[in-house]
Amino acid sequence: MHITDYSEYQTDYQKSLEEPDLFWAEIAEHFHWRKKWNKVLEWDFEKPDIKWFLGAKLNITENCIDRHLESNAEKPALIWEPNDSSEKHKIYSYKDLHSEVCRFANVLKKLGVEKGDRVCIYMPMIPELAFALLACARIGAVHSVVFAGFSANSLSDRINDAAAKLVICSDAMCRGAKQLAVKNTVDEAIKNCTSVEKVLVVNRLDWPIQLKPNFDYLYDIESKGISDHCPATEMDAEDMLFILYTSGSTGKPKGVVHTTAGYMVYAAYSFKNVFQYDNNDIHFCTADIGWITGHSYILYGPLLNGASTVMFEGVPNYPDASRFWQIIEKHSITHFYTAPTAIRSLMQSGSDYVIPYAMHSLKVLGTVGEPINEEAWHWYHTYVGKERCQIVDTWFQTETGGILISALAGISPLCPAHAGQPLPGIQPVLLDNNGNEIVENEIEGYLCIKFPWPSILRTTYGDHERCRQTYFSSYKGYYFTGDGAKRDKNGLYRIIGRVDDVINVSGHRFGTAEIENAVNQNKNVIESAVVGYPHDLKGQGIYVYVICKELPTGEEQNWLRSSIIQTVSEEIGPIAKPDKIQFVSALPKTRSGKIMRRILRKVAEGDSTNLGDITTLLDPLVVEEIINGAVL
Ligand code: WTA
Repeated sequence: MHITDYSEYQTDYQKSLEEPDLFWAEIAEHFHWRKKWNKVLEWDFEKPDIKWFLGAKLNITENCIDRHLESNAEKPALIWEPNDSSEKHKIYSYKDLHSEVCRFANVLKKLGVEKGDRVCIYMPMIPELAFALLACARIGAVHSVVFAGFSANSLSDRINDAAAKLVICSDAMCRGAKQLAVKNTVDEAIKNCTSVEKVLVVNRLDWPIQLKPNFDYLYDIESKGISDHCPATEMDAEDMLFILYTSGSTGKPKGVVHTTAGYMVYAAYSFKNVFQYDNNDIHFCTADIGWITGHSYILYGPLLNGASTVMFEGVPNYPDASRFWQIIEKHSITHFYTAPTAIRSLMQSGSDYVIPYAMHSLKVLGTVGEPINEEAWHWYHTYVGKERCQIVDTWFQTETGGILISALAGISPLCPAHAGQPLPGIQPVLLDNNGNEIVENEIEGYLCIKFPWPSILRTTYGDHERCRQTYFSSYKGYYFTGDGAKRDKNGLYRIIGRVDDVINVSGHRFGTAEIENAVNQNKNVIESAVVGYPHDLKGQGIYVYVICKELPTGEEQNWLRSSIIQTVSEEIGPIAKPDKIQFVSALPKTRSGKIMRRILRKVAEGDSTNLGDITTLLDPLVVEEIINGAVL
């Protein structure tokens, strides 16, 4: 399961092509199964219908926790660093983690949660968030984590889509200097959710909260005197492990479904090999557990390998831009994994914050979530890695469950701004407009994958047809990622960015249609169009063209801008706030009524020179108005 040098990588890669079943079966041997599989893989990308390790029985938490107890019970499993550096950190050994997860699982059972039930988790980055996920997995409930920065409306949609029976939340949360309500947001969200039978509240900040009898339950009370043993529920390899909502090119986010065995095998395998994890390493991934990176590389991947994983409640720039570096020194972190947007923002704060920190423990640095520009890569390498650490630029998606394209730290060839080569078992291809595989190098194509890997999504919750259409229908026989990429002469992939109507803002995915829907909820708005544009810090910024009843002027424009931003915060969450809003009297549309986004994108980028043919537009004059009024 562990690749130790480049020739081994090549041999394994070859083997994964020639004998995929054997290749994955050998890796799967490293786990604890209640019953082994009868067959490794069955697949059909057209339906799609993908099954791994058929007939096997297991529980992922026995692999994350129980099997480490014999020799590593006292080893730190979870190291929690609070938002405020003056508050004490917490360390949970594997034994402690076992007790905490079992207690949490017993509380869930007491509240009536059963195998297959969906549990929505809406919490800040506190240890109980980790316990909650693992407790669900322990008893076979399906967790659906919703990032705590989403608004009540977004939460409500996700709860309804999954028909969640229980919501787990905290009273409140802290983020930098701010304290924010959490339970109140849940109260607001569930007004429209009939599936929710109970809410379980974990205390974080002693905030006063309203408790509805026989509906709201406090974790501190429910867990009093509860047993810290809870037998793990036996799951089928293909039983659902979790749902994670993500944005696509249509308005409504979809619930990506991951199942038990395949996800487990791939999260563990990719963690071990990409990061070259060694027994005493300490891994710090700064993502939130509300995203796939947090699921796979804060929790499941590290714990499956018996690693020590760090969970940080706060933000990179509080109390100042040295917070990450302090944490790295404090806990002797060996692996640091963050997003390009965080690197760019820390770089902008100035290297003086990082220079005093030697960070001798660091060995490997990682990035994920969006393409990293060369300048940020070099800054990361020089100032954080002190020119001695390996950098892995890891490409993956919520739908892929784990990292598919990346260098293996210290083993594979590196090139700044290139994710690198596919992991063994991953068969990427670049397709042209006609769906033909591009064999030449240095040509941009649509990034697709032509063979399944264990943690590929199985469906989108409650709507299999949507899964088929989104990922498996654009190019017959391929999984389509939605990304454009290039391959260089050494076979290294460079991910260019989304080619669909998805924008990536600070590593967060939004559908342009999703933001338009939110903007249109503002009662002053008649129509809107959203595009992404290059943004120094965020990667992409959100540019909105808005039509109101009458074209607003001066002060009125400022007032409307704030109002629209407020609406988007309420509809989606503050993370989707538009950066620029331009009021227009009309949008460039074709005679058939289709918005010409290409033109809008160009103008938002500040380039109005080469707009292509605009004569087919219903009203070509509108283009001039848009160019003149561009917010640059
Ligand atoms: C983008 C995040 C370039 C890509 C793990 C993908 C990246 C989307 C990289 C998935 C990378 C992720 N280089 N782009 N190393 N990693 N992306 O589902 O556009 O939140 O399709 O998963 O992020 O976003 P998601």
